[in-house]
Amino acid sequence: MAFGSKKSRCTAPFGKIAPSGLVDLHNHVLFGVDDGARSVAQSVAMLDGMAQLGYAEIAVSPHFDAASGEPGIGKQIVLIDAIEIARDGASLPRIHPGAEIMFDERFLDPAHAALWPPIGGKGSAYLVELGMQPGAVPARLEEQVFRLTARGLTLVLAHPERIADLQRDFFRLEKIRRAGMLLQLDIMALVGRYGSKAQAMAVKVLGEGGYDLIASDIHKPEDLPLLRRALLCLCDDFGDSFEKLASMAPRLLLEGRSDELD
Ligand SMILES: [Fe+2]
Repeated sequence: MAFGSKKSRCTAPFGKIAPSGLVDLHNHVLFGVDDGARSVAQSVAMLDGMAQLGYAEIAVSPHFDAASGEPGIGKQIVLIDAIEIARDGASLPRIHPGAEIMFDERFLDPAHAALWPPIGGKGSAYLVELGMQPGAVPARLEEQVFRLTARGLTLVLAHPERIADLQRDFFRLEKIRRAGMLLQLDIMALVGRYGSKAQAMAVKVLGEGGYDLIASDIHKPEDLPLLRRALLCLCDDFGDSFEKLASMAPRLLLEGRSDELD
């Protein structure tokens, strides 16, 4: 059987399997700040589509520029307000600030720490990314993660299945997770959006219970049909973990309750 090819038994918006709604901590819904939504109309279209899929809460995650400190939470609030006006009363999903931050020497520099937008705009949980090209994962990553988590930070690694060094070395992925990093699946990897290696790794790690949460990473309204297909695929093939990965775990992070994650 080709993975994810059978007729879906699940139905969006997933109210039966995740009654409190889906929560997304990684997306590019905020307009005009990165390679995501280009206009307020695109932001609204993405939010409308996410509402139809059952999303109750999202934290936006624009690519963060450590040099300029933008888009900071102040700018994000202005843009979120503009989106809310354009949404004309639609209440779900609720929108919170956030950022996707490159895990590099600037992230490790305590002098920069006040700049980083945390997930949801408050608390001490951060969404971080690593370079995807071969050789990009720092040799001392586990030690750095261990030190930061010991200081009380919660680190969520975006799309590990798309990182070449980790595709070749599952043991390294385990070590990173044991050091304290939470692993976030880019759900569209499950249906081949990022190629066969990322898809195979997503299926394997999901099967081993290696992910802590999932996220959409949508960039434009045209991503919505594939996001829907990916969620149905997760629901059909990994239904037992759907609620935890798509709703409960991201909600705990958003609410600053990461200590309650199992
Ligand atoms: Fe992203």
